[in-house]
Amino acid sequence: MLSSIAKNITPSATCELEGVVADLRAAGVDVIGMNAGEPGFDTPENIRELCKRALDEGKTRYVNVPGIAALREAVCEKLERDNGVIYEPSQICVSTGAKQALNNAVMAVVNRGDEVIIPMPGWVSYVEIVKLAGGVPVCVDTKEDFQLDISAVEKAVTPKTAAIIINTPNNPTGAVYTRESLEKLAGLAVEHDFYIISDEVYEKLIYNGKVHECVASFSEEAYNHTILINGMSKAFAMTGWRCGYTAAPAEIAAGISAIQGHTTSNGTTFVQWASVEALRHNEESVKEMVAEYARRKDYAYGRLTSMEGITCANVDGAFYLLPDVSHYFGKKYGEREIRDSFDLCSYILEEAHVAIVPGGAFRAPGCVRIAYTNSMEKIAEGMDRMERALSKLG
Ligand SMILES: Cc1ncc(COP(=O)(O)O)c(C=O)c1O
Repeated sequence: MLSSIAKNITPSATCELEGVVADLRAAGVDVIGMNAGEPGFDTPENIRELCKRALDEGKTRYVNVPGIAALREAVCEKLERDNGVIYEPSQICVSTGAKQALNNAVMAVVNRGDEVIIPMPGWVSYVEIVKLAGGVPVCVDTKEDFQLDISAVEKAVTPKTAAIIINTPNNPTGAVYTRESLEKLAGLAVEHDFYIISDEVYEKLIYNGKVHECVASFSEEAYNHTILINGMSKAFAMTGWRCGYTAAPAEIAAGISAIQGHTTSNGTTFVQWASVEALRHNEESVKEMVAEYARRKDYAYGRLTSMEGITCANVDGAFYLLPDVSHYFGKKYGEREIRDSFDLCSYILEEAHVAIVPGGAFRAPGCVRIAYTNSMEKIAEGMDRMERALSKLG
């Protein structure tokens, strides 16, 4: 019989939708994907070449659980250079994607029954990662502009609070948290002695002159209460390579490595060598990608907000928009009624062959998540198709 942990887990809505889209494509349907949190670019050539070389040089064996020294050093250089925060290589643990890094971090600081605060709308996996560790997710709403609501967070803190998971720039909202709100959050974490698990995987994807604020860099006390999560997937178009990392206070870092030592051991060895190359030599390719995403965001935002009944926050980060589409709830196409964001996304997929994600999956029930990672041409075609499908609802 299935364990209570397995029964209690909600499968990832985004991963499931990706499966449906793959099946439709295999059946010959021309689906425009605006669903996946996946860069619309290939991994840069120098990174691919370095990986091939690493394979040819026989870098194919087990290595230290927390990762090869060269990568942990490159991560420390990156954190100092980009985020103004100093870590020793012994504080870094390289994992199989930021997703594993997050699982490790939660497992390292959450005891059974401990509470973990999660601002919502938020990424689908946080709640489930906390449940997997035996913790209790405590969801708090963000403000209307998707910024952290510090007084709501403060109200949610109890003696059982072990951590808060934050994500800036944010999936699914695109919000970039202000320094002021993060300083207040750090104050709360220090006062009530809980950890900030700070997921910074979208750090590089930031627009309109905004800057990413790294909460661990604010003060020694903030540093001692933060577990920083980052990875290669989003910035370097390396989603399938599966490489992420944690940077944490020494005691926590040792716990994270011990946990990983009994799950996956080390992250894939030749991928780690390629990641050293990415961290040291790909500033320019990241800048080019970001400039292109900025163009796509402006276009997608313009198109969405010109559609009847749709409102959307013009946010500054990640590669998502979260328009409010509740205007269409209760409308019909023939006999079919659109009751919620799930119905609307199914309708758009079936009628327009455009894949977008129901906001309900992120606790944003009036919204849908649109990823603007596809090419400009595909985004334009996707928006045309969506607009036509929406206009048929009455
Ligand atoms: C907010 C957030 N954190 C972490 C991840 C996982 O990243 P990785 O591919 O490194 O496991 C994702 C992927 O979609 C994400 O959106």
